Amino acid sequence: MNLRFTSYTEARELGLLCSLVFGALLFSISAACAQLTLKEAFANTFRIGAALNPSQFSEENAEAVALIKSQFNSITPENILKWEAVHPKPDTFDFGPADSYVAFGEKYKMFIIGHTLVWHNQTPKWVFEDAQGTPLTRDALLERLHDHISKIVGRYKGKIRGWDVVNEAVDDNGNLRRSGWLRIIGEDYLVKAYEFAHEADPHVELYYNDYELEKEAKRKGVIALVKKLQAAGIQIAAVGNQAHYKLESPKLEQTDTVITELSKLGVKVNITELDINVLPAPGQFSGAEVSQLFEPAKGLDPYPNGLPDEIQQKLAKRYADLFSLFLKHRSSITRVTFWGVTDGDSWLNYFPVRGRTNYPLLFDRKGKPKPAYDAVIRLAPQQNQSK
Ligand code: XIL
Repeated sequence: MNLRFTSYTEARELGLLCSLVFGALLFSISAACAQLTLKEAFANTFRIGAALNPSQFSEENAEAVALIKSQFNSITPENILKWEAVHPKPDTFDFGPADSYVAFGEKYKMFIIGHTLVWHNQTPKWVFEDAQGTPLTRDALLERLHDHISKIVGRYKGKIRGWDVVNEAVDDNGNLRRSGWLRIIGEDYLVKAYEFAHEADPHVELYYNDYELEKEAKRKGVIALVKKLQAAGIQIAAVGNQAHYKLESPKLEQTDTVITELSKLGVKVNITELDINVLPAPGQFSGAEVSQLFEPAKGLDPYPNGLPDEIQQKLAKRYADLFSLFLKHRSSITRVTFWGVTDGDSWLNYFPVRGRTNYPLLFDRKGKPKPAYDAVIRLAPQQNQSK
C-alpha cells in the first residue's frame, strides 16, 4: 500500500487516529478478558445457582447450556423433583427427568440441590388417602412419607448435596400450615421428614425453605420451627429465604433483618429462589402462595414489547442493592440461586397472572446479560481484584 500525505499535519492526524483506534481496541479486548462470569466473580463468596427445567438439562439447546455452565455453579430443579412429578401414582416413580437433571449437574460439576420432599403444593391428593379415597391414618401416611423420602434421597445419595426437605410449612400468621401432613400426622411430621432424609443420606445438607420471611409473624414462626427441629437433634444446615421480590419491596432493611435474625440460629441463610417481579400485582394478591392464580386484566401486562429504560435502571439498582447486602452478610450466605436463567424461562410470566411478559432475571429472552447483570458483576469481590 502506498500512502501519500500532502502535508505533515495530515500524516500526524492519521497517526493519531490509528493510535486511538488501536488503543480503543486494546481497551475493549482487555475489558472483555477482565469481565468475569457470575460464578467466577463470586467464586470466593457464595455459590451462584439457577433453577432449571427439562428443556435446559436435556441439553437440547446448546446456547442455553453454554450460558448455564459458564455463569452458574449450582442448580435446583424447578419442578421435576416435586411429589406430583417424581411420584405421580402410589406405585409409580418417574425418575427419568430427575436422573437427567442430576447427570447434567455432575457433568458440569455443579453443586446439586434437591427441591423439595414435603410441601402442600404440587402434591397429589391421593398421597393423603387410601385406595378407597378414605383419609390415611397417621401410621400409614408416615410410612408413605418414609418410602417417598428414602427412595428419592437414597437414589441420589452423594450426588444431590443439599435437600429442601420441607417447603413452606409456616403460614402467614406464623402458625404451622394446616396441610394434610399436619392434620393427619401432627406436628412431628416435620422432625420425621428430616430424620428420614438424614437416614437415607447421612452426609446430605438439610434445609428448610420458605417465602416472605421479612414479615415478622412469619419469620417468628420459622425461627420457632427451626429451634424445635434443632432441639429434636436435627442438624439444619441452612434456612432458604426464597426471595421472590418486587422492585420496591421488601425494603433492604427488612431483608437485612431476615439474614441477621436467622443466622443467629447457627444456620446459613441461603437465597434460594431470587427474582424481581417488575409487573403490577393483581388486586388482592399477596405473597408467593402458588395456588393463587388470576386472569389477565387491563393494565396487568404493561411491557409486552420490552422494558422501558427507566424500569431497566431501577431493576439494575435493585439487584445491586441486594447483592451489596448479600456481600455484607457473606459469612452467613453460602448460595444465591435465581429462580430461572433468562426472563423467558421465569414462572412470573404465568404466575400469579397467566400470559404476561415479565423481566425478573439477569439475562434477557435471548440470553444476553441485562444492565442488572453488569450492576451485580461490578460489585463482585473477584471482579474488583482482577482490575
Ligand atoms: C413454581 C414453579 O416455578 C412453577 O413452574 C410451578 O408451576 C409452581 O411452582 N416457591 C417454591 C417453588 O418453592 O417450588 C415454586 O416454583 C415457586 C414458589
